[in-house]
Amino acid sequence: MEENMITGLVNVSKYYGTGAGKVTALHDVNISFDKGDIFALVGLSGSGKSTLLHLIGCIDKPDKGQVIIDGIDTTAMTLEQLAPLRLEKIGFIFQSFNLIPVLTAFENVEIPLLFKGLEKQLIKEKVNQVLDKVGLYDRKNHYPRQMSGGQQQRVAIARALVTKPSLILADEPTANLDSKIGTEILDLLLHLNRDQDMTILVSSHDSVVLDRIKYIVSVRDGEIDFDKK
Ligand SMILES: Nc1ncnc2c1ncn2[C@@H]1O[C@H](COP(=O)(O)OP(=O)(O)OP(=O)(O)O)[C@@H](O)[C@H]1O
Ligand SMILES: [Mg+2]
Repeated sequence: MEENMITGLVNVSKYYGTGAGKVTALHDVNISFDKGDIFALVGLSGSGKSTLLHLIGCIDKPDKGQVIIDGIDTTAMTLEQLAPLRLEKIGFIFQSFNLIPVLTAFENVEIPLLFKGLEKQLIKEKVNQVLDKVGLYDRKNHYPRQMSGGQQQRVAIARALVTKPSLILADEPTANLDSKIGTEILDLLLHLNRDQDMTILVSSHDSVVLDRIKYIVSVRDGEIDFDKK
């Protein structure tokens, strides 16, 4: 598929609930990324950051508007139909890591490749390589409970990277980590952006993150503004 095509949201609105309990989580949002962009998404709790990331990540669908991934308009596709596209193009890093507790680091990272149906030896090579990149090769047989928060987050990052996605979405990836480990995680994301031209959107309240990313997207009550420092 052709690279460097537009990715973003066009006139997107998202509501939760119905009737009197209806919440407008995003209202008529437009945002687009070029390959290699890195944006920080900031805003108060409840402003709509996770909702925005979930929509771009094709984990959820908007009520209005279009979600475009590498030039593909996903509007007519169901979440199920979007699974292969998610697998090929998107790496999602959740705030709460979302690792599977009964699987080792290696086994957690290999999951997307098993879904892709790759051959066992190739999976092994790719998983070892990405664990090495995040500095966890020597922890590959450890279970999440045997690892620190920062190490678990790095496993989650490795899982997001192992398919070599063109788009990384990270929802407060440093929120549960102390500032030294948060800095290491950010270094890793910045490195991926610079050296591998990955497009990255990272939501954060963390000054460690915000000080080092030039383009800031502010989310307020479901609407966005752009700032360049
Ligand atoms: N599943 C849901 N059902 C109902 N309302 C929801 C749901 N998910 C989010 N919301 C509401 O949508 C709005 C946006 O939520 P969202 O999770 O996107 O905010 P956020 O900016 O990520 O907040 P935080 O910084 O606390 O993570 C909030 O008002 C929230 O209460
Ligand atoms: Mg959130």
